[in-house]
Amino acid sequence: MHNKKFAPMRVKPLNGWLLRGSLLLALSAGLSGYVQATDAVTPIKPAPAPQGELSPQANYVLRCLGCHRPDGAGSPAGGIPDFNHYVASFAETERGREYLMHVPGVVGASLSDNEIAEVMNYIMQRWGGTSLRANFQPFSAEEVARLRQTDVGDVVKYRRIVVAELQAMGLPVADYPWP
Ligand code: HEC
Repeated sequence: MHNKKFAPMRVKPLNGWLLRGSLLLALSAGLSGYVQATDAVTPIKPAPAPQGELSPQANYVLRCLGCHRPDGAGSPAGGIPDFNHYVASFAETERGREYLMHVPGVVGASLSDNEIAEVMNYIMQRWGGTSLRANFQPFSAEEVARLRQTDVGDVVKYRRIVVAELQAMGLPVADYPWP
């Protein structure tokens, strides 16, 4: 019987594993040969890196919520100002708009200019409340690009300058624990 040695009952366990091993080797060699052959004809390109921008809501959740909280209330005792009914005051002056582009979360977020503009507009509209003026000017990607280029130095000190200006205009600004 020419196929006697392949009869399962007659194969010793070790031989069985060796046999299966060589079958697997042969199979994978055959498969990789197939893939290589296919490659030569139709190169398989790696999937492009994701280029799509996320929605402002998604970016807020992923990049901002950890510090600013789901309700925008932040953690005033921890130095994270409350957005509610305050944050849109910053949009009223050129310096205020510039300050917003240099807060730690925005500087470190590696978002595109457009995503920063959108997440900032989202914050203004969602939590600006009574500080959001009827003439609110939304941020654009172009403005973000321009304001990010400036150097405001120490952002905590810069906030004080901005806040003094806003308060002189009668605009509300969130309490902030740093001297
Ligand atoms: C690691 C914590 C942290 C994260 C994350 C963070 N922020 Fe902030 N944010 C702060 C702190 C601290 C301040 C106060 C800045 C200062 O010291 O002047 C601030 C201030 C702000 C302000 C101005 C509020 C005010 O009253 O001064 C805005 C607007 C803001 N952040 C937006 C964002 C956005 C948008 C994101 C996400 C892309 C973000 N932040 C992520 C910590 C954070």
